[in-house]
Amino acid sequence: MADIESLLKEKRVFKPSPAFARAANWNKKTVSELRRLGDKSPERFWARMAKENVSWFTAPKKTLQWKPPFAKWFVGGKLNVSYNCLDRHLEGENAWRRNKAAIIWEGEPGDTRVLTYGELHREVCRFANVLKDHGVRKGDRVALYMPMIPELAIAVLACTRIGAPHSVVFGGFAAEALRDRINDAGAKLVVTADGGYRKGAPLPLKPAVDQALQGAPGVEKVVVVRRTGGEVTMKADRDVWWHEVMEHASASCPPAKLDAEHPLFILYTSGTTGKPKGILHTTGGYLTHVTTTAKAIFDLKDEDTYWCTADIGWITGHSYVIYGILSNGATSLMYEGTPGHPGPDRWWDIIERWGVTVFYTAPTAIRTFIRQGDEHPKSHDLSSLRLLGTVGEPINPEAWIWYNKVIGGRRCPIVDTWWQTETGGIMITPLPGAVDTKPGSATLPFPGVHADVLDEDGDPVKPPAGGFLVIRKPWPGMLRGIWGDPKRFKEQYWSKYPKTYFAGDGAHRDKQGYFWVMGRVDDVMNISGHRIGTMEVESALVSHSDVAEAAVVGRPDEITGTAVVAFVTPIASVQADGELKGALRSHVARQIGAIARPAEIRFTEALPKTRSGKIMRRLLRDIASGKETAGDTSTLEDYTVLARLRESEEE
Ligand code: PRX
Repeated sequence: MADIESLLKEKRVFKPSPAFARAANWNKKTVSELRRLGDKSPERFWARMAKENVSWFTAPKKTLQWKPPFAKWFVGGKLNVSYNCLDRHLEGENAWRRNKAAIIWEGEPGDTRVLTYGELHREVCRFANVLKDHGVRKGDRVALYMPMIPELAIAVLACTRIGAPHSVVFGGFAAEALRDRINDAGAKLVVTADGGYRKGAPLPLKPAVDQALQGAPGVEKVVVVRRTGGEVTMKADRDVWWHEVMEHASASCPPAKLDAEHPLFILYTSGTTGKPKGILHTTGGYLTHVTTTAKAIFDLKDEDTYWCTADIGWITGHSYVIYGILSNGATSLMYEGTPGHPGPDRWWDIIERWGVTVFYTAPTAIRTFIRQGDEHPKSHDLSSLRLLGTVGEPINPEAWIWYNKVIGGRRCPIVDTWWQTETGGIMITPLPGAVDTKPGSATLPFPGVHADVLDEDGDPVKPPAGGFLVIRKPWPGMLRGIWGDPKRFKEQYWSKYPKTYFAGDGAHRDKQGYFWVMGRVDDVMNISGHRIGTMEVESALVSHSDVAEAAVVGRPDEITGTAVVAFVTPIASVQADGELKGALRSHVARQIGAIARPAEIRFTEALPKTRSGKIMRRLLRDIASGKETAGDTSTLEDYTVLARLRESEEE
């Protein structure tokens, strides 16, 4: 609540500079015209965007078929995503882009590689042929478990070329998490690497794949990129080297003509149960959404060097490192490593050396930089920057102002973009040449997006007021389902309010109707802009033989936004000590990945429960954040538990 109050005291307003507004892809006039169209008919708005921004082999016959909660967009249309991201920049009036940089890549050790649109096209065609040679057919799933190297971009685009849905698994996930995702998607082939560079040292990846595949019988082949040169075991008949299979692959591979609703990718994200959800996105609607939003919100021009710091293992990397950026023919910078290597100024050094013009990152990174001191960005010339963006979590006004001043030199608009893995693309956002910004607010819905804030009864709140964030009308980038689980899809997103998408976030609208997204209202934590379900961490903890019961909550953290706090009841015979805490923290990291590792573990003899046996998370949250428990405790089963929990507080 304190955060909400401080946010809502924020009164500063920043207008787009006249110079920026004049040159913007979407100026005030365009935006008000498109808003009118989108308000009146989202279908007509998106149909126009699909026509203007996407190349179709066959034009769609019907814009939307909506049988809530199942949507089909651009029915009858045929297209190919890799064609839109590559081939169309090599043809006709765009043919000059053949030798324009598509991807500027920088490895953590400082090695670089620039792939022009012509080269990227050749590499993608060759890898598409490799996939075919190894038995991958249209509709087969391919899992990618890779560092941030150009081969990852090549591999996803190659999948789209032949219509094989990809499932990218973030390289920070552990073997167990990888195995679950491979099995759930039924992947046939895995692409990986010997390792990647992180914090100045090679970090192996292949051993996790070997371990995962012991329990994943569906995988027939593994393609391994040599990145670090580290030792790997190659399993005969299953594992092949990328460089060997690519050597003789043909650079000609016609793009498959796919239905607009052909599955494009599955991406796993955390929900309120222990099992991650495979969010399904399809071809035509997703591409229309990400291409249109990237062009309008990042104001992409041919001269831009655009850098989004997200890993391709997350939705931001899918939509705004690869698809939305390349489909616009822009230059996308990709960086392999951590921000702090070799020094805290690595990112600013990259911006200066490559002349980055548009920069998109997460509030958690900004907060880390603030703490490290202004001298690091100030030691670099950042004058190439003209537009800044943030994503993944609410940005506190203080961080917004610092970003504006120290990184943007007070000349760059900031686009605070709200969206989700499920929404596919940006939904609530400033348009940098047309919308006044307020620090901490994602401002207004993108044209054609019908977002609203509802109260518990489903009525729109009367601003200024807060409630639950929803989307009332279907949009083209929306998830089409949860892979293999239509029931969960309905329950999770469409059951709170009829025919309305419930995002799981709380939001406030101010007098002007601006949206202030406050964060999750369900049992999902947002750690450094990454989603982790409390249940996921709980199931990892109880899978340890010394644990009888566990409850996990988030507590506010200055840098990461939220930190994981675990309340654990060990089995009677074990010693609840520091050693066990260490063991449990490592256990969680091994089961899920380092991002889920609890910042704090507290041992307790019992957990506070209602009479019906539900863990009282609200109480645990208060205890974890050091607040007194003012809430209603009348349903508590055992009052003494509370007192004991507070005593368990760490030094
Ligand atoms: O809580 C919201 C927060 O991130 C969640 C979505 O997480 P994920 O699917 O991992 O996607 C992150 C990148 C798109 C949302 O439910 N979130 C995302 N962007 C913002 C945000 N919260 C506030 N402001 C934002 N700009």
